[in-house]
Amino acid sequence: MARSSSDPIRVLFVCLGNICRSPLAEGYFQHLVNEQGLADRFEIDSAGTGPWHVGDPPDARMRSTARRRGVSLEDLRGRQLERLDLQRFDHIFVMDKSNLHDTLALDPSGDHSTRVRLFREFDPEPETYQVPDPYTGGQAGFEHVYDIVERTSRAILDRFKEIYDLDGQAA
Ligand code: 4NP
Repeated sequence: MARSSSDPIRVLFVCLGNICRSPLAEGYFQHLVNEQGLADRFEIDSAGTGPWHVGDPPDARMRSTARRRGVSLEDLRGRQLERLDLQRFDHIFVMDKSNLHDTLALDPSGDHSTRVRLFREFDPEPETYQVPDPYTGGQAGFEHVYDIVERTSRAILDRFKEIYDLDGQAA
């Protein structure tokens, strides 16, 4: 079905556990569209390919890193990616190649595969094109993920402004 210009742009961020990388991307992207007066143009969510953290808040280390840098992740809860998400969302950004594989596996016919992209395709400094999983590492890993998410989200929103001709109001 074609989207109408009044429909929100539905954006989904996907990682493995939905407690570190993708909730940060959801929270940061929401923060950015709020700041730019574009919140009513977007519906933003995140999900994990794995089932382990359904219903859990984001990892405490990710929450504290985000909080210190001005973004609250307190209201987010983990959920698992489902087949319907590939129809429901216009843009699905995955954090690494394993997430890409697992997400595309939910769409064996390939009908929705063009909606699924590596998040770091839009990073001006993409390095490996993957967001490293910080879960088993130290604090530096969380700060590094925050830096990646910050600059990549800004680049994605700039791209959306061009392709959807969005005209926000800076708060
Ligand atoms: P995330 O990190 O995919 O960035 O949320 C992980 C969190 C938890 C697990 C793996 C990755 N885990 O295996 O529980």
